[in-house]
Amino acid sequence: MWDKLKAQKAQAPKIVDLFQSSDRPNQFSISADGLHFDFAKTDITEDCWADLLGLAEAADLAKWRDAMFAGEKINVTENRAVLHTALRNLDGGAVYVDGQDVMPGVKDVLAKMAQFADAVRSGAFRGQGGAITDVVNIGIGGSDLGPVMATIALKPYADGPRTHFISNVDGADLADTLDGLNPETTLVLVASKTFTTQETMMNAESVRAWMAQSVQDPAAQFAAISTNLDATADFGIPADRVFDFEDWVGGRYSMWGPIGLSIMLAIGSNDFNAFLRGAQAMDQHFLTADLGENMPVALALVGIWHHQVHGYATRAVLPYEQRLLRFPAYLQQMEMESNGKSVTRDGQAVDQTVGPIVWGEPGTNGQHAFYQLIHQGKQVVPCEFMVGAEGHDPELEHHHKAILANCLAQSEALLLGRSYEVARDRMAAKGYEGTELEAHAMQRVFPGNRPSTTLIYAKLTPYVLGQIVALYEHRVFVEGVIMGINSYDQWGVELGKELANKLLPAVEAGADLNDVHPATRALIDRINASG
Ligand code: F6P
Repeated sequence: MWDKLKAQKAQAPKIVDLFQSSDRPNQFSISADGLHFDFAKTDITEDCWADLLGLAEAADLAKWRDAMFAGEKINVTENRAVLHTALRNLDGGAVYVDGQDVMPGVKDVLAKMAQFADAVRSGAFRGQGGAITDVVNIGIGGSDLGPVMATIALKPYADGPRTHFISNVDGADLADTLDGLNPETTLVLVASKTFTTQETMMNAESVRAWMAQSVQDPAAQFAAISTNLDATADFGIPADRVFDFEDWVGGRYSMWGPIGLSIMLAIGSNDFNAFLRGAQAMDQHFLTADLGENMPVALALVGIWHHQVHGYATRAVLPYEQRLLRFPAYLQQMEMESNGKSVTRDGQAVDQTVGPIVWGEPGTNGQHAFYQLIHQGKQVVPCEFMVGAEGHDPELEHHHKAILANCLAQSEALLLGRSYEVARDRMAAKGYEGTELEAHAMQRVFPGNRPSTTLIYAKLTPYVLGQIVALYEHRVFVEGVIMGINSYDQWGVELGKELANKLLPAVEAGADLNDVHPATRALIDRINASG
């Protein structure tokens, strides 16, 4: 199948020629529950599409999907189920792990979160200097990126305390975030699945010390979100302010549960439920739509066509929505920590690259930064545009029209490009001649035939954000299944963590450097000499 796809790629028509069929935009797009995914501006032909669907079938996608939703331990290297979908299974039935229905526990924790969020938002839960005005979430990776992304995305719905995030162990993050906050009215959430992560624990201790300078009982203004209840108790956080979850929720898939508490504090439990319902609706679509009409499957197959078949190394995620500012960063962890791997589930080498490099920035800012390379650079970057039909600011409607026009213009420019002849005519009209004309014309050629997809949604509401995030989660799953890898472990982050713990004493003054590798020792010597 791979060989056939690669042969088709070698004979791929120009994308623009595929539009001779006026039905192409309908044929190569999927609409579901208000979302519309258009992949017509790619060189996927009907034959390619059939073969890409064949890949999904050959990988037993439907079987793996059903196994995931049913709580089977598909995270084989950690012997765990993968059940972030259970966290938003609000209207669904029982979900069993090891013979036990997990749904009562999920619903209890959600109710406990709502009760706490309501108390904080109403002022019933108070800091030692009055009602809570600010919430600081301390966490990193999956315990940070989702809540950061979602609280920015859902700013128009935020009517609770202000939310702030500390993730980096660099003290600058902590110092800048706490600057101007009143410890007496600040609530601190320590969010860590393991409650052992160096960055989070160091930050949590430093924030506790900051608070202890002003309030009598700092622990009273702390809450914890973790699977490690012994560690949260050791930290001094009472059980009624500990929100626990199970090991079947991966860090980068965890904002649907207690890790999303900062989101709920910002937007309230009703809107948080709408966010869950959007994701649940996407889960249902993924579970029930035919593979050829299945949006996450389509995103994954387009991704595979571009990365594995064409060999394009990266993909750019380009939201034309300023409030999706952190969406590319959030996706980087979701996609690259999940699928940036080289061995299959059972440890065999994968014979092609898995996991493209994901990057991006909101438009239109990116247009004034890196789009030059996207349009005229030698390497092809498939672009994934996203845009809402409507904005949130009716008085700024003309700005929204401008964002729409820019988004559409970019994908059209990538498709059509500009030929040498057109560029030459333009420059000739400006009076250039001879070799000068040739040189100026060449600078203004756009090769075109560059692939892009466009995801259109009505408006970035909590429900729609839930749909979009779940869409990308399932895309990652489908790509992982087709490549035969386990998307739910992350062994590749371990080595650096181990070495950082080992090197911490070595960078402290006066430490014995004999056991340190000479390559690192030379840098430590240089740092010591510079400090
Ligand atoms: O970077 C590795 C990682 O384990 C991520 O998978 C995780 O989201 C992050 O660290 C934070 O982990 P924790 O929530 O346990 O502090």
